[in-house]
Amino acid sequence: MIISAPTDFREAAQRCLPRFLYDYIDAGAFDELTYARNTQDFKEIELRQRVLKGVEPDDLSINMFGRDWALPLALSPVGLSGMYAKRGEAQVARAANKAGIPYAMSTVSICSIEEVSQGLTQPIWFQLYVLRDRGFMKHVLDQAKANGVTTLVFTVDLPVTGIRYKDKRSGLTGPWRKTRRFAQALTRPHWALNVGLMGRPHTLGNISKYQGQPTGLLDYKEWLSENFDPTITWTDLEWIRDYWDGPLILKGILDPSDVPDALTLGADGIIVSNHGGRQLDGAVSSIRALPAIVEAVDGRAKVLMDGGIRSGLDLVKALCLGADAAMIGRSYIYALATRGEAGITELIDMYIREMRVVMTLIGAETISDLDRAKLAKVDF
Ligand code: GLV
Repeated sequence: MIISAPTDFREAAQRCLPRFLYDYIDAGAFDELTYARNTQDFKEIELRQRVLKGVEPDDLSINMFGRDWALPLALSPVGLSGMYAKRGEAQVARAANKAGIPYAMSTVSICSIEEVSQGLTQPIWFQLYVLRDRGFMKHVLDQAKANGVTTLVFTVDLPVTGIRYKDKRSGLTGPWRKTRRFAQALTRPHWALNVGLMGRPHTLGNISKYQGQPTGLLDYKEWLSENFDPTITWTDLEWIRDYWDGPLILKGILDPSDVPDALTLGADGIIVSNHGGRQLDGAVSSIRALPAIVEAVDGRAKVLMDGGIRSGLDLVKALCLGADAAMIGRSYIYALATRGEAGITELIDMYIREMRVVMTLIGAETISDLDRAKLAKVDF
């Protein structure tokens, strides 16, 4: 399939992947209303077209959390990325490294932190959940430190997993799942050979090591639901701040009322996120939630957002609404599933091209020129 636009990777990925994997990525919680709003609300934002401003926005770089970024974009943590391409997380990390942007690797990755960190010139970021087993949390944080990770992304919006009916319908979970997944894999021979067979082992790299036994894909959902801890509160997180001396970014803040606690904890950054619409259906879209959070933070931490960004055009809109940077998840996983590392490189190049064109047309020379004054109409 010919890929012309960043969004073309979605359909291409659907053709490459067994259904349970495409559906896992494509799933939102319950009726998927928030998932839909995340992208829909970007379409509501109007930009002001300006002319003869003499701008040529070549340099999209920023400096944040102690490093230079080639553009204000980072790759969000996505569980099971190693099922979307052979040793998927390692491919994602190489593409991000080449592009000069951060990649936050998920706790529930197929590859281990060690495998992913091989041969990179910039350390990856590591994402961790609030888990019952503090011993495990310390173990992975130590692994991350040993592999040069300095920036920790701590996910706070998953005290329980959201209800995603698609996973049950598709066979990721539910009855006959093994047989159903096997049958689906047979319909995608390229995936079955390259990832299903040659991409092994399909264990959760970071968790298996701690448990001393392979933690397979079948155990993934069980492991997650047994280990998330709904009883946790802000004070339970204080040890993390003490244990981690590098930048700490909290992912999953959607309401400005949670900002004071995040700042008191000492967060260096906040990611405005509803987990891609995978948790609380009916919650506000990330882009709609962003301005109030930027206001509440008032420059005391960096504000990033994820959820709904599918193009360089969307990224510009998020920056105009006050984000210091934005993150993508599904957008790059579709590219990974279609063409691996090269697909992600192609995708990031498209984002850059789009950003440069959009910025020229709104009269913005640099990233710091992107502000609300560049927007014509926005009802949030
Ligand atoms: C895990 O974080 C998921 O959204 O499946």
